Amino acid sequence: MTIRLLAISGSSRQGSVNTRLRDAAVSIARRHSAEVRALDLRELDLPLYDGDSEAATGLPEGCLRLKQAIRDHHALLVVSPEYNGFFTPLLKNAIDWATRPQEGYPSPFPGKVAALLAASPGALGGIRGLPALRVLLSGIGVLVTPSQMSLPLANKAFDENGNLINPQHQKMLEGVVVELLKTVRID
Ligand SMILES: Cc1cc2nc3c(=O)[nH]c(=O)nc-3n(C[C@H](O)[C@H](O)[C@H](O)COP(=O)(O)O)c2cc1C
Repeated sequence: MTIRLLAISGSSRQGSVNTRLRDAAVSIARRHSAEVRALDLRELDLPLYDGDSEAATGLPEGCLRLKQAIRDHHALLVVSPEYNGFFTPLLKNAIDWATRPQEGYPSPFPGKVAALLAASPGALGGIRGLPALRVLLSGIGVLVTPSQMSLPLANKAFDENGNLINPQHQKMLEGVVVELLKTVRID
């Protein structure tokens, strides 16, 4: 059976280095025969989570689409910028919405497998945001693979076709993606 992978960037900014890293990982996963959907969080148009609005009108349509997308895939590839040492509020808000249960539709996260990536124009590559993301995903039932990658000086790391210039970076990314695909169990 083909592994289905949902690839999410924690930045929807035009020219995002994290989305570029996400797309480089997507290419690798496709070369390894995974079926990949790249999801743009901005397209979900999610409001900031608000318990009163959830109580009044239920889950927004974008939340239902996100929950369905997670349900439809075996694995998640989550790539996020670091904002002041954490992953982005765009990503946190989307995950929070998606965990909200609805009649017959519990949180879609338990049993999924995920790999984490980060990129930054800075020297540390956004690595400080990943431990918190790992804790969050683990806490909602996701098995997060041990290997991860942060890409430093990411604004200079890609060529004009979106390929990583440094072969070491490409090898590291390949390692993370392959480990993710090997960790997925399809029964
Ligand atoms: C609110 C805010 C906080 C940031 N904090 C960090 C940080 O802690 N570490 C870091 O490496 N870069 C930080 N940056 C810079 C981002 O890494 C940079 O804007 C990056 O391009 C964002 O990722 P993107 O290109 O995928 O949108 C911060 C940017 C913003 C807007």
